[in-house]
Amino acid sequence: MAPREDKAFERALPMGHVAGTARRAPSTRAGDGISLSAATLDELLAAAEAATGSAAEPRAGTSFSSAYALGEGWRLFTAVLPDELGVPQARGVVLPRWTREMLDGREDLVPGGTFYRDHQYLLYRCALAYLRDVPLALHGHTGLGKTEAVRCFAALLGAPLYRMNLHGLSTTDDVVGKLLPVGHGKVDFQDGLVTTAVRHGGILLLEEMNATGQEVWFALHGLLDGSRALVLVEKDNEVVRQHPDCRLFSTFNPAEYSSLYPGTKELSAAYLRRWVSVRVEFPDTDAERRILLERFPDYRAEPLRTTLETMLDVSRMARRLLLDRARAFDFVLSTGLLVTWAQFSRDVGPVEGARMAFYDILDRRTKSIFRDQIFAYVTDWDTESLD
Ligand SMILES: Nc1ncnc2c1ncn2[C@@H]1O[C@H](COP(=O)(O)OP(=O)(O)OP(=O)(O)O)[C@@H](O)[C@H]1O
Ligand SMILES: [Mg+2]
Repeated sequence: MAPREDKAFERALPMGHVAGTARRAPSTRAGDGISLSAATLDELLAAAEAATGSAAEPRAGTSFSSAYALGEGWRLFTAVLPDELGVPQARGVVLPRWTREMLDGREDLVPGGTFYRDHQYLLYRCALAYLRDVPLALHGHTGLGKTEAVRCFAALLGAPLYRMNLHGLSTTDDVVGKLLPVGHGKVDFQDGLVTTAVRHGGILLLEEMNATGQEVWFALHGLLDGSRALVLVEKDNEVVRQHPDCRLFSTFNPAEYSSLYPGTKELSAAYLRRWVSVRVEFPDTDAERRILLERFPDYRAEPLRTTLETMLDVSRMARRLLLDRARAFDFVLSTGLLVTWAQFSRDVGPVEGARMAFYDILDRRTKSIFRDQIFAYVTDWDTESLD
C-alpha cells in the first residue's frame, strides 16, 4: 500500500492561526509549542517574535534556511506552502528547546549540529508532527537526507536522539527489551532502545522500518494507537506509557524498487495508517549545488566550479534514467554519493573520483550505460581509463 503523501499530511495536521496568540512563558514541555500561519514570512517571523518575546535569528553559519532561533528557549521552523486555492502561505511551528532538566544527564545523546540544508520543508514537517504528537515516516531513495533531517531537527531542539536501525533479523527483544542473566541464577529485564526512549522521552528514530518483520511492527502498534503505551510481556506485562516528550519518527526506502532495496517489504495498511508520511524526492540542482558548496567551498572558484556543474549534470541525467527506466538502470546517484564524489574529485579529478565514489561497484551493464549514455552525453571527460 502506498503511504499517504504530502497533501494528506497537510490535511491530517490542521494548523491554527496566529491571530490573538498570547505571549508564551518559557516552557519546560517539549510538545508545548504553537502553530502559526501568515501571508508572508516577515509577518510570520513578527508573530513568532511577539509570541515568544524574542528576536528571530536564522541559524548563523549554517544553512538551516528554514529554522530560526528565538532566544535560547525557542526554535521556529518555517515553510511556504500553497493553501487550498494555491496561494502561498507562510507556515511556522514554534517549539521550546529541551532544557537541562528534561535532558537529565543525557546531553551526549543530543546530536551535534552538522550542516543540513532543508529540503521539501522537512524540518517544518518534523516540527508539525512533533507538535501534534503524530508519528512521522520519511520515505524515499537512499542518500536523500532522511536521516540527516531528523538528526538536524533533534540538534536544533537540543533533544536526545534514539536511533534504531531495523533489519531482517531484528526481533521484538531488540526493540522492546529482554530478560538477561544478572548472576546468581537470576535474570532481569533490560529495556530495548524503543522502551528506553518511550520511558525517558526523546526523539525515537526507527530506520529502515520496512526491512524488518511483521512481529516488530506489531510490537509497536500499542505505541502508535490511542493507548500510546508499550506492554512488556516478559516483564509481567508492565505497561510503559509514552513519555510526554517522546516522539516517533521513521525512515524507509521504497519497496517497489526491489532490486535496489532487497529485503524491504510492503508495509501493511493497518500499520501505515498509524503514521503520516512524506515522500522525500531528489533535491533540485540548486539545492544540491548549495549543499556541495557549503561542504566544499573551494568549488566556488575555477577550475572546480566547472567540474561541479558537470557533476550536477551527470547526477541529473542519472536520476532521469532511474526514474524513467528503473528496470534498465537501477542505480541511485544520491545526494550522499554526490557529496562523496565531490570530496574525492578535489584530490583525484572527477573521473577517478567517480570510480572511487560509485563507479566500481556498478555491474557491467550499468557501467556501460553510465559511460555511453551519461558521461559521453553530458561531459567532455576522457573516461577511457574507466574501462
Ligand atoms: N539536505 C541535505 N543537506 C546536507 N547534506 C545532505 C542532505 N541530503 C543528503 N545529504 C548528504 O547525504 C548523506 C546521506 O544522507 P542520509 O544518510 O540522511 O540519507 P538517507 O535518506 O537517510 O539514506 P538511507 O535511505 O540510505 O538511510 C549525508 O551524510 C549528507 O552528507
Ligand atoms: Mg537513513
